[in-house]
Amino acid sequence: MDIFIENLTKEYENKRVLDIDTLNINQGRIIGIVGSNGAGKSTLIKILGGLEQPDSGSISYNGEKDFDKIYRDITIVFQQPYLLVSNVYNNIAYPLKVRKYKNSDIKNRVNTIMKDMGIDYLAKQKARTLSGGERQKVALARAIIFNPSLLLLDEPTANIDPDSMNTMEDTIKKFNKTNGSTIIIVTHNPEQAKRLCDEIIVMDKGKIKRKITNADFNQYNFRESI
Ligand SMILES: Nc1ncnc2c1ncn2[C@@H]1O[C@H](COP(=O)(O)OP(=O)(O)O)[C@@H](O)[C@H]1O
Ligand SMILES: [Mg+2]
Repeated sequence: MDIFIENLTKEYENKRVLDIDTLNINQGRIIGIVGSNGAGKSTLIKILGGLEQPDSGSISYNGEKDFDKIYRDITIVFQQPYLLVSNVYNNIAYPLKVRKYKNSDIKNRVNTIMKDMGIDYLAKQKARTLSGGERQKVALARAIIFNPSLLLLDEPTANIDPDSMNTMEDTIKKFNKTNGSTIIIVTHNPEQAKRLCDEIIVMDKGKIKRKITNADFNQYNFRESI
């Protein structure tokens, strides 16, 4: 999905928390967003995903006018994802059920992704009993199971173990490669941003302070901005 943002602003209680002149994100890119707490990263993610409305400005998704259609093609994974009160299999299958996939197709897809991510042993476990790392993996599996064109990740690997983080990163990269989806990931981990992203956007006080392409990653001191 191609995204074109123009003059986007958002205020909370008369305080401007987002103020982006222009931002272009091309289809198939993995874009990192870094910046200190309160920089407006989550607000941008929520607006991109249609969960919040901007006060002014516009976002174009492939130039598409039907926003309901667009929002059905986007998923967000939060740091504390909400899972259904059910087992892991049903959680991952849910987006496919909603979209009326055939049962045999659902079974195939869910089993394949669980195996790929090494979480097949969790299939029958209740979501509320999962560890933090397991929970994030299930949330990511559920997010990508229906091949969304835009995947929004808001600190998806904060506070999880290194093994789970590796699995998450491998899954994100593989999904991007095989599906050509656009991915935007907010992270406080500069090494992760370097490993995953084609480009990193540094936000500060609601604005885009810098855009760094991966050829320049090593010359930039991300610690300054995170
Ligand atoms: N629902 C809200 N009501 C009031 N202020 C909010 C709300 N959501 C976010 N903010 C404020 O907007 C600013 C940006 O928040 P956020 O986008 O969550 O930042 P980040 O994700 O970069 O840490 C912060 O100052 C935050 O306190
Ligand atoms: Mg945030």
